[in-house]
Formats: sequence, structure tokens, C-alpha cells
Amino acid sequence: MTTGTTTTTTTGASTAPGSASAPASTDSPIGGRRHLLSIADLGAEGIEEVMKLTDSFVEVSSRAIPKVPALRGKTVVSLFFEESTRTRLSFETAARRLSADVMTFSSSSSSIKKGESLRDTVQTIEAMGIDAVIVRHAGSGVPWQVSRWVHGPSVINAGDGWHEHPTQALLDCYTIRQQLRARGIQSAPALDGLRIAIVGDVRHSRVARSGVLAFAALGAHITLVAPPTLLPASLVGWPVEVSHDLESVLPKLDVVYLLRLQQERMIEALLPSLREYTATYGLTRQRAGLLPEGALIMHPGPVNRGVEIAAEVADLPSSVITNQVANGVAVRMAVLYRLLGSGVELAVA
Ligand code: NCD
Repeated sequence: MTTGTTTTTTTGASTAPGSASAPASTDSPIGGRRHLLSIADLGAEGIEEVMKLTDSFVEVSSRAIPKVPALRGKTVVSLFFEESTRTRLSFETAARRLSADVMTFSSSSSSIKKGESLRDTVQTIEAMGIDAVIVRHAGSGVPWQVSRWVHGPSVINAGDGWHEHPTQALLDCYTIRQQLRARGIQSAPALDGLRIAIVGDVRHSRVARSGVLAFAALGAHITLVAPPTLLPASLVGWPVEVSHDLESVLPKLDVVYLLRLQQERMIEALLPSLREYTATYGLTRQRAGLLPEGALIMHPGPVNRGVEIAAEVADLPSSVITNQVANGVAVRMAVLYRLLGSGVELAVA
């Protein structure tokens, strides 16, 4: 549990991965739950369930008309209080490919600007008769709060503060399995025994927190590589090893996963300079050469080329960053389908 690193005092907030608990419901589809808030709620079984379904949606996405009628008549709202390019577009594309109606909420052009509270905003949207709310917010725990306020809709966490980003972890697991299989490196369905390093600003990263939970649940060995100031205040309970020496870790890896420096979340000087960070922890061309053949280079985006990863390294064949984005749509289709599915067959729309 990493106390002292939360960004807000919102109920249920914690930066320890998976520490907030979601309200369970017996008639709900993923891991027995109506909402997707944390990877911890899914466990290995729930993750596998989503992975399996994702295979079908990767196939749907490759069709000339990548659309199925599965969620016709359902309405999905994306409620984003933080900037986003890929996550918002990915969820909205996923919902549209399932034939759902999509409503987009933008806090900068909403009545939040007139002083309306988050709770009133959520309840106003619920009153319009919606089936799912996809929430991104700078406050850790906000999706849990939203799930307590709404009665009908499913709530999906699209990133809460430093805390969790479960669909990112799901798409990362899917991409690792798909890409290592394509390279003939891994045949096991899970991530059994794979060696994954997460490099960079772990302290402020919800991607790292959900990733650690998911990779560990599927049997991977995880090493965090970061300067001490960019690690969580406490790693008690984290199933990881820690290193401060990227070059000694790289030759042993199946996957190196780079994180962006979350400068918008840093409230104190945690690094002497960007240049020094890059010199010690950046994945340069030379360092990428230390990776074993077939090892994957991953990044959740947005990438700061020249900081955590050299511009040309992001474009190497071993970099699967755009595969992550493509799989993100299919994974989110799987999540929406499981949470809202009407049982309609996956035929062409
Ligand atoms: C990440 C996020 O917003 O948490 N991006 C994403 O969702 N793909 C990571 C980041 O902002 O660095």
C-alpha cells in the first residue's frame, strides 16, 4: 500500500494497484461484476475471458465493414475530465463498431464550468437513459464513486489519477501474447514466466499499476526500472523486483515497457533534468540493441520521442506501439460486449 501518494482524498482512492473494491453484482458479466473498475476485480480468469473474446473482435476489426449489431439500441457515454486521444477515440470506436449510440461529454464545454457537481452531472446523464459510462478523471477513485451514484449503467474506468487503467492493461496483455506468438517466442496462453520490465515514471503511472496486477496475475516476472524518486513511496505488496540499472536488465527481457514522464502530475522536482533522465533511463538505439532477439518494445502513448524512447527506436520492427492501439479497440469491444451484450450474434451489421 503506497500511502501518501494519492492525488485526491476521494473515497476509495489509493495508489496501490487494485486497492479500491468495486461493488459486485451476481448477474454481471465480467468476473461476476457489472462494472470494470480494477484489474484486481478480474483476476487471471476474468482477464483470460476478455482475451478470448478479443480474438473475435480482432477478426471483426479486420472485415471490410468492421461492424456488428451486438449493442444496437444501447447508449454509451464517454465522460472524460482529463485529456485523451487514444483512450477516448478507442472506446468510442469500439462502441460504434458494436452499433451502440455514443454520447461524448467534455468537461470544458459542460455545466461543470457553471459550478455543477460531478454527482449532479453523472445523475443528469443517467437520467437520459444510458447503458454505460466510461470515466476518466484526475482523481483516484472517481469511477468507484460514480459506480455508487448510478443505478442502471455499467461504469468503466478509463484511467483514474495515478491509480488504475484496466483496459490499458488488458490490451497490453493481449498485445504481448499476440506479438510473442507471431514471433514464435511464446506459445502458452498466459504470460507464464515472461520477463517484463516497466521503465520510467512508475510513481505517477496508473498504466504501471494496472499492468503490474495483470502481468503478475498471468504469471509474468516484473522488474520496475526507475530512479528512486519515480518509484512509489512503498512497494510493499507489489509482486515486482526493482532495478536502477536499465542496461543490466535489458538483455534478460521478453518485453520492455516504457512509461511517459507524467510531468503534469509532478508537484516537486523529482529529476535533475530531462537530459539526465534520458541519459540514464531512455531507450536509446544502443540500449535497444541489448534486448534479446524477438523482445518487444511497448509504450501506452502518448510517446515523448527523444525522452523515454529515442525517435527511431519507437519505429523499430520490435516496437509494437501501434499494435497496442489497434488491439485497444478490439479489447474495448470485448469489454463493452461482456458488460452490455444483448446476446445478439456477432454477424455483420
Ligand atoms: C496513458 C494514460 O493516460 O494513463 N495513456 C493512455 O491512456 N494510453 C499514459 C500517459 O498519459 O502517459
